[in-house]
Amino acid sequence: MSQPIAYEDAIDLLDADHKAVKQLFIDFNGLCEDGAPAADKQAVALKICQALAVHAQLEEEIFYPAVRQAIGDDALMDEAMLEHAQAKDLIAQIQEMDPQDETFDGTVQELGKDIDHHVLEEREQIFLKARLARLDLRGMVPAMVKRKEQLKKKAAAPAKVAA
Ligand SMILES: [Fe+2]
Ligand SMILES: [Fe+2]
Repeated sequence: MSQPIAYEDAIDLLDADHKAVKQLFIDFNGLCEDGAPAADKQAVALKICQALAVHAQLEEEIFYPAVRQAIGDDALMDEAMLEHAQAKDLIAQIQEMDPQDETFDGTVQELGKDIDHHVLEEREQIFLKARLARLDLRGMVPAMVKRKEQLKKKAAAPAKVAA
């Protein structure tokens, strides 16, 4: 078991995810530049997909609803949810894709660009408004850490056999 990481508040926790996934995209691009084997690229791509799926669900279940209620900007939160839905479509595509497919690298890189844009929007708008709204961002951490662990375990479980 790894040591639990102490997060300042909910935003700190979410931004740590953003940084971790950004590093994975950088790793992926490095593999592409090096002409690495498809299996190696796929391994990183699947890690990205898993990390983003857990992160998005955590935001949607705990952080976004609290922020939506506190900031009163439904348009902003609706846009973020739409971007999550678009990312999930790409994630599902990547998870099903043959890494030998000539569009594989480009699809992962497209997801990377979309996530860059989404993260920027979270940092510059959602996180900022959440801070100004004086939400109990620190108080949200234990529930988020707990839920994240559950989601990670679920995501790591072997895919269920089709009936
Ligand atoms: Fe998000
Ligand atoms: Fe996020």
